[in-house]
Amino acid sequence: MKLKDKIIIVTGGGSGIGKAIAMRLAQEGANIIIADINENLARETAQEISDMGRESIAVKTDVSNEDSVKNMVNITLEKFGRLDIVVSNAGVSRMGKFIDISEEDFDFNMNVNAKGGFIVSKIAADVMEKQGYGKILFTISMAGKCGSPLYAHYNASKAALLAYMQALAMELAPNIIVNGVCPGLVQTSMQEREIKWSAELQGISEDLVKSQYLSGIPLQKLEKPSDVANLIAFLAGDDANYITGQAINITGGMILRR
Ligand SMILES: NC(=O)c1ccc[n+]([C@@H]2O[C@H](COP(=O)([O-])OP(=O)(O)OC[C@H]3O[C@@H](n4cnc5c(N)ncnc54)[C@H](O)[C@@H]3O)[C@@H](O)[C@H]2O)c1
Repeated sequence: MKLKDKIIIVTGGGSGIGKAIAMRLAQEGANIIIADINENLARETAQEISDMGRESIAVKTDVSNEDSVKNMVNITLEKFGRLDIVVSNAGVSRMGKFIDISEEDFDFNMNVNAKGGFIVSKIAADVMEKQGYGKILFTISMAGKCGSPLYAHYNASKAALLAYMQALAMELAPNIIVNGVCPGLVQTSMQEREIKWSAELQGISEDLVKSQYLSGIPLQKLEKPSDVANLIAFLAGDDANYITGQAINITGGMILRR
């Protein structure tokens, strides 16, 4: 087990990619704090991890609210006494033609995806700097590296997060390691919502959206949450200790550069 007894926070760990990450890290021996705005989902994941014999707690958290994140980190420290790794994964998306995107839509994406990453990492880094060690990992997206129609606000939020991650890696080196992962098209509830929106916005069927997705993926299959979790598990472990400031593509070959 590569992460035996590590104390790891996973934001957005109640479902989708975050849940797969939490379960995978627990399989590697870690104890996990599930920080999610959806308390019921967070509790379900924490229970599944406890059933595996690890310690896990669910803390209702809104990553876009500093007091909420401080409360979650304080609860973590009270229970476990330290914080080894944080996976800042919680995120949201909406779709729309950029001309129709409202200020509220733009703020929603930026507040959770970009500002949320800032708040979570800032409060975690404060603890880690006092400890003298730690790792901060972000779920970014290929949307942070290249624009795509109907996602202008989401693209902006993920590009901001990517550049922020790089700055953080330079400021926090050498004691704290910082990296990000850039998934492609992952089968989660976020993707289900996006397939519906995309079909409506383009006036085509959901099946056609799915075939559009597949035709753009060299490996010819949609990504699973566990694919992302496997990469996060690698980055969380000691085998990745000479990697920092990287945003690693995991897209089935959709992005071949950068
Ligand atoms: N699904 C994809 O294709 C895909 C691709 C690339 C990147 N991502 C990124 O992966 C991450 C996870 O996405 P997913 O597909 O698993 O989505 P999801 O909607 O299935 O899960 C997101 C989780 O985050 C939680 N959450 C939402 N807002 C929150 C907030 N303010 N505070 C705390 N928790 C909050 C939700 O309750 C949910 O449990 C996101 O950052 C997303 O942008 C997803």
